[in-house]
Amino acid sequence: MVARLSLYQHHSIITTVFSVLIILVSTSYGDDDNKDYTDCKKPFSCGLLPELSYPFWGGDRPEVCGHKGFELKCEEGQLPLIASDTLEFRLLNLKQSSRLMALQLVNFQEYICPTQIRTNSSSGSDIHIFGYDLNLQNLNLLYNCSTSSSTVLSKNRISFCNGYSGRSFYGNDDILVNSSGLDVLQCSMRIRIPIAKSFGELLVGDRAELEEVLGEGFNVSYEYDQGPSICEGCMASRGICGTNMTHPDKEFMCLCRDQPYAFVCQGKLAMPH
Ligand SMILES: *[C@@H]1O[C@H](CO)[C@@H](O)[C@H](O)[C@H]1NC(C)=O
Ligand SMILES: *[C@@H]1O[C@H](CO)[C@@H](O)[C@H](O)[C@H]1NC(C)=O
Ligand SMILES: *[C@@H]1O[C@H](CO)[C@@H](O)[C@H](O)[C@H]1NC(C)=O
Ligand SMILES: *[C@@H]1O[C@H](CO)[C@@H](O)[C@H](O)[C@H]1NC(C)=O
Ligand SMILES: *[C@@H]1O[C@H](CO)[C@@H](O)[C@H](O)[C@H]1NC(C)=O
Repeated sequence: MVARLSLYQHHSIITTVFSVLIILVSTSYGDDDNKDYTDCKKPFSCGLLPELSYPFWGGDRPEVCGHKGFELKCEEGQLPLIASDTLEFRLLNLKQSSRLMALQLVNFQEYICPTQIRTNSSSGSDIHIFGYDLNLQNLNLLYNCSTSSSTVLSKNRISFCNGYSGRSFYGNDDILVNSSGLDVLQCSMRIRIPIAKSFGELLVGDRAELEEVLGEGFNVSYEYDQGPSICEGCMASRGICGTNMTHPDKEFMCLCRDQPYAFVCQGKLAMPH
């Protein structure tokens, strides 16, 4: 009886010592884990889309966990919004494994004969999201252009906008680069919108056509990384992909349990068990 009791006591002391050790070990890992690593490790959902990961951030997810250009606006019960330059898109669908997303331009009617002066959308800054997709082209909408007549562009004339003293045109990027008689700087509003390449042939310049093209969703592949993927290298070393917020260009950074590294985790914690 006494022996059994002492055995139990002994056992419980051992258990206690073990427990304390385990708690010490786990809290020392937990507390010492890099804060950004801990924050970014948490699952992230945005509106109706669950289980989002790098390069997406936004909502309660800080930018250090994501990549510039992939900020999402999250609203309860809604699909996320993603902005590109001056445009805003709704993220209808996302396949992160194949880096594909389906987007739809928000408030597309506002881009057809806008009555209030819009900020000109600049060219080229969409490259981080759309730049590598061969199935897309740009639709340029040029409103209120004080240009003299040009026969070349007659097929690109928008005839249904009222209220401008100047003329309006649409077209793909050829309309900007080719000296077809139009100087885009003479247009008081220039809007550039990515559309599916297959739409290019369909555009005939009537309003219904333009509404259909702009209102339709489109699939787009997104790029955030040079191949072979820096992010995959980081994940293979048990890191989490993130952004170096102190770097002026907000470059890539690999978040690891002990500290962030430029590309891959290098501490002993990086080694697989
Ligand atoms: C159209 O252009 C003219 C002259 O370039 C300008 O005075 C006018 O305000 C413009 N209208 C709109 C709606 O932008
Ligand atoms: C510019 O337009 C001319 C005809 O108007 C055409 O022959 C030429 O290929 C065009 N250049 C480009 C770069 O599209
Ligand atoms: C758009 O660009 C044109 C030509 O550069 C300029 O005259 C116009 O003021 C710009 N409009 C806005 C809203 O920035
Ligand atoms: C995008 O792709 C999905 C599946 O791959 C397809 O069901 C959908 O119709 C496509 N959407 C557009 C607008 O092309
Ligand atoms: C982040 O950027 C700063 C400034 O360029 C640099 O000093 C630092 O080493 C970078 N951190 C990592 C983990 O690469």
